[in-house]
Amino acid sequence: MILLAQTVGGLLVILVAAQAVVMAVGAARRMAHEQERRRLSIDLLTQKVETAMAQRAAAHEMASLTWTGYRKFEVSQKEVEADGVASFYLVPHNQRPLPPFKPGQYLTFRFDIPGRAKPLIRCYSVSDAPHAEHYRITVKRIPAPPDAPDAPSGLGSSYLHDMVAPGHLVDVMAPTGHFFLDNTTDRPAVMIAGGIGLTPLLSMVNATIQEARGREIHMYYGVRHQSEEVMADHLRALDQEHQNFRLTIAHSDPPETEKQGTDYHHHGRVTVDLLRETLPSNNFDFYICGPSAMMSQIIADLREWDVPEERVHFEAFGAASVQQVVAGADGAASEGPKELSVVFERSKKSLTWTPQIGTILDLAERNNVAIDYGCRAGNCGTCITAVRSGEVTYLSEPGAEVESGTCLTCIAIPKATLVLDA
Ligand SMILES: Cc1cc2nc3c(=O)[nH]c(=O)nc-3n(C[C@H](O)[C@H](O)[C@H](O)COP(=O)(O)OP(=O)(O)OC[C@H]3O[C@@H](n4cnc5c(N)ncnc54)[C@H](O)[C@@H]3O)c2cc1C
Ligand code: FES
Repeated sequence: MILLAQTVGGLLVILVAAQAVVMAVGAARRMAHEQERRRLSIDLLTQKVETAMAQRAAAHEMASLTWTGYRKFEVSQKEVEADGVASFYLVPHNQRPLPPFKPGQYLTFRFDIPGRAKPLIRCYSVSDAPHAEHYRITVKRIPAPPDAPDAPSGLGSSYLHDMVAPGHLVDVMAPTGHFFLDNTTDRPAVMIAGGIGLTPLLSMVNATIQEARGREIHMYYGVRHQSEEVMADHLRALDQEHQNFRLTIAHSDPPETEKQGTDYHHHGRVTVDLLRETLPSNNFDFYICGPSAMMSQIIADLREWDVPEERVHFEAFGAASVQQVVAGADGAASEGPKELSVVFERSKKSLTWTPQIGTILDLAERNNVAIDYGCRAGNCGTCITAVRSGEVTYLSEPGAEVESGTCLTCIAIPKATLVLDA
């Protein structure tokens, strides 16, 4: 009996001891597990902090590469792309690396043209993906308009074509602009280019291909005929080599020698009917740049095709064109005032503004009111004019600083009766 009790007691002791061991092992495991969890979360936190610091340092470094005002660039290369169209490669004169830009943005130039009292300011979109060593712009020579054939041809574009060669120095402001590819998303995009309006879209396409994330892009490029095509062979090669890039070239006025299917895809203009025929749906982000008439028609038709407004992005080469696009395909503004009085006090002119006229600068020019201008894109500040009374609305966000009591007439339209010191 005593022996049995002793055995049971021994067993109990062993059991208790075993249980204690199990508990101790469990506690040690839990502690090790907790320590490991803490270590991992500390590692994760450290990793996150390091990534954030690296990102901040990279952003700081990039920000330090940008500049304010004008910086000297040297033209390193000039290439004829088509009749009256040439590309200019620009390298920074101080050879410091370039800050990246958003594909679609533009540069503002200040040209000192011999024989001209004042520098000439013009904007040109960067026509290639961001590159650490150079920017590329692609410029069309602008001839005199058909209704004024004796007028001088475009000053800035002619200067670039005729006078600027490799080795030439030009003054350039840092890239800017609100028309750029949103690369925080991989949503499929449609790019519609008309004529020289190809340039910012080319930058977007090249950047997308370079990033190699496989984002789907459908590009529609409209010109009258083959001799107007710019870098179309490059685009055709991308179409051949990349599954995610589809190109449709439309010729609106091809000569008989050009064959559909071989030289171009579509006979006619780029229209929303063409998009409806060739795209699987309207579920895309749309980026458009071209002549204002083409853009206003396409924008109106995309609206009719139920494409949400926030998915349609466009750029017009000049604020007047922006206003024409905003005014709509039929020339009638969809919203906002239809008619307002603008008084140019110093010129003693009281005029009527309508949306079809364009900006306040356009109204002034039509009526021989002298207002100096440069970029016509709200970026250089040349057209700044004092406002005596009234308010303006901006067609795009001003890039130049606007002091209170003044306005940038090249991108402004009146909001109410306006009196200007001009
Ligand atoms: C954001 C932005 C990006 C741009 N990107 C590009 C681009 O990538 N590529 C590109 O090629 N362009 C681009 N442009 C357009 C460019 O900035 C210029 O507007 C274009 O080159 C014409 O400028 P210009 O100095 O040659 O012509 P201007 O001298 O401004 O002349 C314009 C027109 O007026 C006519 N004219 C001049 N004087 C008279 C007169 N007395 N009577 C009647 N007519 C007259 C000229 O013959 C010409 O047809 C862009 C514009 C903006 C705003
Ligand atoms: S002309 Fe450059 S800001 Fe108006």
